[in-house]
Amino acid sequence: YIIGVDLGTSGTKTVLFDRECSVIASATVEYPLYQPENGWAEQEPGDWWRAAAATIEQVIRKSRVDPADIKGVGLSGQMHGLVMLGKEGNVLRRSIIWCDQRSGRQCGEITEKVGRERLIEITANPALTGFTAAKLLWVRENEPDIYKKCAHILLPKDYVRYMLTGEFATEVSDASGMQLLDVPNRRWSDEVLTKLDIDPKLLGKVYESPEVTGTVTQGAAQMTGLRPGTPVVGGAGDNAAAAVGTGVVTDGMAFTTLGTSGVVFAHTDKLSIDPRGRVHTFCCAVPGAWHVMGVTQGAGLSLKWFRDNFCYSEIVSAQGLSIDPYVLLDHQAELSPVGCNKLFYLPYLMGERTPHLDPDCRGVFFGLSAMHVRSDLLRAVMEGVAYSQRDSLEVLREMGITASQMLACGGGGTSPLWRQMLADVYDCPVQTVKSKEGPALGAAVLAGVGAGLYPSVQEACARLIKVNPPQEPIKENAEKYEKLYKVYTGLYPALRDNFKQLAELEL
Ligand code: XUL
Repeated sequence: YIIGVDLGTSGTKTVLFDRECSVIASATVEYPLYQPENGWAEQEPGDWWRAAAATIEQVIRKSRVDPADIKGVGLSGQMHGLVMLGKEGNVLRRSIIWCDQRSGRQCGEITEKVGRERLIEITANPALTGFTAAKLLWVRENEPDIYKKCAHILLPKDYVRYMLTGEFATEVSDASGMQLLDVPNRRWSDEVLTKLDIDPKLLGKVYESPEVTGTVTQGAAQMTGLRPGTPVVGGAGDNAAAAVGTGVVTDGMAFTTLGTSGVVFAHTDKLSIDPRGRVHTFCCAVPGAWHVMGVTQGAGLSLKWFRDNFCYSEIVSAQGLSIDPYVLLDHQAELSPVGCNKLFYLPYLMGERTPHLDPDCRGVFFGLSAMHVRSDLLRAVMEGVAYSQRDSLEVLREMGITASQMLACGGGGTSPLWRQMLADVYDCPVQTVKSKEGPALGAAVLAGVGAGLYPSVQEACARLIKVNPPQEPIKENAEKYEKLYKVYTGLYPALRDNFKQLAELEL
């Protein structure tokens, strides 16, 4: 058996698989997201560890599997979050997570100190508020007492690794999102660390994703039910793990995730960097390879926000029953036609990365008329996310990265309506894999490779990941979306200055 732990933004999901990657047991525990100010986002590392420990304990208990038969644990998680620990491994403050936008000033500082071109050459990305380095500089500037006490910085899933194994370690795919890694050479960048005056001792050891990084301690074994000594492999950032879980591990393959954030991800055997920095280039979980991905900050987040704030009473009550409220949302959205009677939504609730790289932009409904009803607004949210994913795909196409196969995953990928929208908006077939476990499956496959159950990530995926037949674009819809997408792409440039004005407004 193998275990994959996926530490998401809304909760942690742990899945126990057999060696054929069939699900034996799964458990999820949710936790809060704190937004103390507009554009800020924090979570409590202690919540992550408690959720990871509880879900591991639950899958072992439910499955009645002998812990000695669990050959390895793989970790996947939300990227970029900053966990700061003191000398004793104590958490010094809440983690500032991936979608937090407070560090615009510090990005300017990073660009100035390292030089924009050199920064892109080394870290493969321009300075971004989402990435860890800018968050660390924000703490250094605004909370110097905490910074002084800091002895270790870790990424979210790597904090769980520390609690499981006592090791301060990470792996290349997640480390790529810290802006401190030399992405072409897959090791910490002395140059960036020196120029930013960050002590390299703060950072853990970097592994390749399938490598064993440590083993479960006695203390962690007591909390989780795992056997002491069980290997914990590097694992991967959630997107790189989802790539393994969907079998996107060779050139020409790509996937779209509709999770809290939305991602369009393409595997590349050769390093490929967008000189304009609109998409990220990161190391991927296949040793020696990379991936390029565009990110929509508010994908599933937009739909959840809409559900939570403008919900139908039957959907609220469905949450108490065992009906998935998102299935009901799909039915409601289907009441509105393609294009939602000329209504658009820009999904910039937490600023936007691809293609605008703008922490100050915010969500917009455009084209509202007295004829619009709630289902139009709901469908507009879903279409707006699909258009913004198309923005990412366009950048990849411009870079010469073409996907012969587009897979869909993440919570939103389970919606047939949303998948059809993607197929129509991209004008390309969209497929799902038979397993819905995405990042948790990817993390478990990496654990299986590390534990010697499978010879390599690519061979494991070729044998174990099975796809469903593709959902083809509907020609008539694709033609309409092509026209609508042109209107969509004009909205952000028209509003850019207004977003900035709004961000600077003192009330
Ligand atoms: C990727 C990113 C998100 C997070 C949250 O760069 O910020 O996809 O990993 O899931």
